[in-house]
Amino acid sequence: MSLIFENISFRYRDDFSVKELIFSNFSLNIHTREKVGIFGKTGSGKSTLIKLLTGEEKLQKGKILFQNHDIKRMKNMFENIAILFQKPEKQFVFPKIKDEIEFISERRKDDIQTRIYELADKFNFMLKSYLSRNIYSISSGELKLLQVILVLSINRPYLILDDPFLFLDEDKSKIFKELLANFRNKTILILARNKSNFEGIIDREIILNNR
Ligand SMILES: Nc1ncnc2c1ncn2[C@@H]1O[C@H](COP(=O)(O)OP(=O)(O)O)[C@@H](O)[C@H]1O
Ligand SMILES: [Mg+2]
Repeated sequence: MSLIFENISFRYRDDFSVKELIFSNFSLNIHTREKVGIFGKTGSGKSTLIKLLTGEEKLQKGKILFQNHDIKRMKNMFENIAILFQKPEKQFVFPKIKDEIEFISERRKDDIQTRIYELADKFNFMLKSYLSRNIYSISSGELKLLQVILVLSINRPYLILDDPFLFLDEDKSKIFKELLANFRNKTILILARNKSNFEGIIDREIILNNR
């Protein structure tokens, strides 16, 4: 089991910008249960890597393989991968928090609601008092924490985290960090600007300095 970016090249087809390559023959092989950090400045292409993985953007060259299958032909890869998106509007299907939690729970047989509330407790997050609120009315830090709780609750073997600590208070980041450090069996890919936050969590770091 692994996630492989094989010689990928990509640039946005944006008529208004310079047609610059964001990735040029970029390769990366993430082994099962490895914890990899990809670090790079704002605009270096971290979130783009996720868009390529989800199919939101298409590669101009190369391929992405998940468990030895080209992701272009895979239908069920997201049964194995949980993604913490940088932009909350990509994370949530419904604006109302209660609806989102019900939506996540509905499609699953296991008791995900219990896990959601256990995680909320771990983070000292009073989830019940947010249920009737919507994602546009809560602070960026609260929203990020909610994203983290929901992403961890679905308990997938692959975890991809785009700027995981952005907007989180130090105490919440610390709790999150401890949870991540204890995920021995998960494969984790972290994308962030600064590697200093991730000591003790990652086994390997990749620096994006393509731009
Ligand atoms: N849809 C888009 N069209 C054109 N350019 C884009 C688009 N999305 C992102 N970019 C540009 O691509 C570069 C990489 O963006 P991104 O992957 O979001 O960087 P990072 O996540 O590392 O901050 C940035 O210069 C950004 O402005
Ligand atoms: Mg980004």
